[in-house]
Amino acid sequence: MSERWTPDSWRALPIQQVPDYPNTEALASVERQLASFPPLVFAGEARRLKRELAKVANGQAFLLQGGDCAESFHEHSADNIRDFFRVFLQMAVVLTYAGASPVVKVGRIAGQFAKPRSAPTETVNGVELPSYRGDIVNDIAFTPEARIPDPRRQLEAYRQSAATLNLLRAFATGGYANLANAHQWMLGFVKDSPQSSKYQALADRITEALDFMRAIGVDPESHPEMRATDFFTSHEALLLGYEEAMTRVDSTTGDWYSTSGHMIWVGDRTRQIDHAHVEYCRGVKNPLGLKCGPSLKPDDLIRLIDTLNPDDEAGRLTLIARFGADKVGDHLPALVRAVKREGRTVVWSCDPMHGNTIKSPSGFKTRPFDHILGEVKDFFAVHAAEGTYAGGVHLEMTGRNVTECTGGARAISDADLKDRYHTYCDPRLNAEQAIEMAFLVAELLKQEHAGRERPVIAAAE
Ligand code: PEP
Ligand code: CO
Repeated sequence: MSERWTPDSWRALPIQQVPDYPNTEALASVERQLASFPPLVFAGEARRLKRELAKVANGQAFLLQGGDCAESFHEHSADNIRDFFRVFLQMAVVLTYAGASPVVKVGRIAGQFAKPRSAPTETVNGVELPSYRGDIVNDIAFTPEARIPDPRRQLEAYRQSAATLNLLRAFATGGYANLANAHQWMLGFVKDSPQSSKYQALADRITEALDFMRAIGVDPESHPEMRATDFFTSHEALLLGYEEAMTRVDSTTGDWYSTSGHMIWVGDRTRQIDHAHVEYCRGVKNPLGLKCGPSLKPDDLIRLIDTLNPDDEAGRLTLIARFGADKVGDHLPALVRAVKREGRTVVWSCDPMHGNTIKSPSGFKTRPFDHILGEVKDFFAVHAAEGTYAGGVHLEMTGRNVTECTGGARAISDADLKDRYHTYCDPRLNAEQAIEMAFLVAELLKQEHAGRERPVIAAAE
């Protein structure tokens, strides 16, 4: 890998998962247009997220990252965004209160459109067509026309990301996220769910605490932490032409930033050290994620860390372990030990989704809730055994009442999957399952805190 980096230096390197655009002129024209559009996020926000993640790296906060596997053009609506955001807030409150930990909130949203695929084509009833690669590339309909990559979709992805981000910013700072609303975040169907009384009790305790503050003369409304929340966006930096077009120099520091989202990550299929995706990501200053799956060897991980976080900045790199419930105990310890031995500062986060996808007897791609939970538990156990910090979770989830993952308190069965199976890619936790997972993770977090003294560090600048 050459030392010199430019936003397009990835173009000279081998690359995986590239769509086959039939019209490269049209593609170049869209990329030029995107490059002239305003940034979606600002460098200062990405730096703030990096400071928050530095606290996670130092064991002083917990990372909650989650959202759709793939955002879709069809499902884009204010209701869906609000439903996602309020479930996310509920989960964050559960983790903050029950887990007694500040929570860094990062959505897989406002840019999570491009999907890596295990095969370039897909065959249905003897017909073979190019795989669906996410709405930013082609259409999910199984017809030859729909599957042709169309660069104009990148403009629509930009428009949707901007609109989503605009609403999220309004929700996060305009009063909706006020802690005094913790009761109102209950969704209709979650209200009757097995989790509702637990959540209700927690919201009651928050209300009591706020009432107590008022009684002693502290106005909770005068504290921005009560009225608003920091919410950040993230996505896989897969479609590098789009990412390059959204890469801008920050005028205050002179550094390059990806302005397509606050945090971007490198997927498990595109993390070859001498390939294009790692090359692109190493040059931007945003917080980065790196998916770590079963094929990653400890030495390769250290080389990737050397490349992606050469200055060992806390908060720069989040390692997202995604092994599968049956594998995490075998694979994760060696990686954790290597990182510790080399003295590298990272956030360790657990993606318990991507290693636990199975085909159900009825033919749906699903993930059993117990396997998801099993991976999270083993992830915490490994960190407890190694003396390192289990810093976060990375979930595929939605605010809607879908039936995509089996199990959970409502015991969704294989036969239920057909009822509301809406995902464009992988199966997501529904709102109830997501909140249930948050309560279970909060328990693990509480145990983790009980088992260790928290290091005291100087506040990040
Ligand atoms: C994803 O996060 O949607 C994904 C494809 O993950 P991974 O790269 O870990 O397979
Ligand atoms: Co996925």
